[in-house]
Amino acid sequence: MSSIAIINGPNLNLLGTREPDIYGSRSFDDHLLQLRAKFPDVEILYFQSNVEGELINYLHGCIGMVSGVVLNAGAYTHTSIAIADAVAAIGLPVVEVHVSNVLAREDYRKTSFLSAKCVGSISGLGLEGYTLAMRYLVGGC
Ligand code: DQA
Repeated sequence: MSSIAIINGPNLNLLGTREPDIYGSRSFDDHLLQLRAKFPDVEILYFQSNVEGELINYLHGCIGMVSGVVLNAGAYTHTSIAIADAVAAIGLPVVEVHVSNVLAREDYRKTSFLSAKCVGSISGLGLEGYTLAMRYLVGGC
């Protein structure tokens, strides 16, 4: 059975209630149930943290444990060279996901330190972005 890790960064624990006009009104737990039903042959590990170092530690822990990572680093996307370095360091395919279309929002969201270290990025497709990233990693790893 292949394993994929989905990692959500700060404030993404509030998906479903947080700014629903931007992020929608579905919780991530709800979407995760659907993902597990859609990919019954894949072990999906899920981790969320609001703490930068915990995200880095979890990324390190993915080495040898999973075949790919879906990463929504939230606002750390736009600030964290440390998370970008971790993505580069682990030697795994990482797909960057954003629920909202970051390129259509404030200028400070248009920079991602992660994109260049990831195999690809999905932005603006809502929670469906996680599904598409999973499909890529399951088919492409
Ligand atoms: C986000 C976009 C980020 O700019 C923001 O800070 C988030 C969520 C997204 O999924 O659209 O927390 O990563």
